[in-house]
Amino acid sequence: MAIKHFVSIDDLNQEEMEAVFSLAERIVDSDIENVGFVLDFILRFLSEQEEPFGGQMKGASCAGKIMGVAFYEPSTRTRLSFESAMHRLGGSVIGFADAAVSSVSKGESLADTIKVISSYCDILVIRHPVEGSARWASENSQVPVINAGDGAHEHPTQTLLDLFTLRQEKGKLEGLKVGLLGDLKYGRTVHSLSRALVRAGAQVALISPLSLRMPEAILSRLRKENAGAVSEGNSLEEFLPKLDALYVTRIQRERFSDPREYERVKGTYVVDARTMKKANRNTLVLHPLPRVGEIAPSFDSDPRAGYFRQVAYGVPVRMALVALLVAASTNDEEREQTALAEAIHPKGLECPNARCITHVERDIKPRFAKEPLTGKIVCSYCDEPAPVSGRDIKAAGAGREVAKDNSRKGGKQIARTRTSKS
Ligand code: NCD
Repeated sequence: MAIKHFVSIDDLNQEEMEAVFSLAERIVDSDIENVGFVLDFILRFLSEQEEPFGGQMKGASCAGKIMGVAFYEPSTRTRLSFESAMHRLGGSVIGFADAAVSSVSKGESLADTIKVISSYCDILVIRHPVEGSARWASENSQVPVINAGDGAHEHPTQTLLDLFTLRQEKGKLEGLKVGLLGDLKYGRTVHSLSRALVRAGAQVALISPLSLRMPEAILSRLRKENAGAVSEGNSLEEFLPKLDALYVTRIQRERFSDPREYERVKGTYVVDARTMKKANRNTLVLHPLPRVGEIAPSFDSDPRAGYFRQVAYGVPVRMALVALLVAASTNDEEREQTALAEAIHPKGLECPNARCITHVERDIKPRFAKEPLTGKIVCSYCDEPAPVSGRDIKAAGAGREVAKDNSRKGGKQIARTRTSKS
């Protein structure tokens, strides 16, 4: 039976995202308090869908289903909106909001914890401080895994609700000019969002202090997707008059290795009535929240302040995603196997990212794959480019192990073939 995970924003194609948005829209338009009614039209919606979300559904609603939540990092909105979504779908929730109360505090590995929790539930939501941990969790889970944030790497469900908010408020994504402001280096929300926006035909202005620029690996993917859609700079004033939306982010203090560096950049940008004089009448201001001073509370009453409307969309969007993933994984019908990316295990090569799960878990084997847009060899868990090229790996020859890898394309099995004796 295939399992569809949502670990990276790349795990949903445009059509699948469209299904999430259109179901979320129906939920918003309905009486959300009326769970019975919502379930009724979710069932109807699912029966109209093509694979992987549709087809012959077994128990398509979430009634009687259990969501596991494993939160190893603080969260207010993400965890509570997932829990609220599952309850509104008629399901229930188990889990922990603090790893200190789980067996992790006794030294249990992430792989073991996930194997255990996934045998108690039908869908698993994980937030973890280590990059690539959600991918590793999905490889150890019997049920669909949703990444609710893995360190500074990705936060794909936040992206779904960000895109949904833009569609609701602006009517479209294509052609929109969106400024991403603040901590683009450590901000996982903008790592997922920038890619989804460019893919959807929007233009992104990346506005940050020099030391918090968007990582080069993400920049090169954005430029490969559409070089003309990406601009970069540090002056908010310069970009503001051209923007349809401004997505503000918090400087991620907890991710800085040097607290002095945080002190140097904190408070670089403050959005308030005065700053927003330079913006258009309709420039929408969004923020994944929490804010810690980068948007003045006095701006909240401005109609352009969209962040509390955005936060409320977290529930219908997560309801739609969870209903669809649960339906997809309970669908017994055999599916065409998605094209599988080739994974590579060059002997002795380690992921250069010190914050990657491959350096934290005991029994994990580094694995790399060719990034489809840039052609670079990247870590299959945290996407960090490896200091080798595809050609180097070919030349190295001996010791190479090739595996059909389901981590990138959502395939259903890992079939290994050894190409040497090592
Ligand atoms: C974000 C996160 O956790 O990455 N918050 C959220 O999920 N809404 C943003 C942040 O913490 O700054």
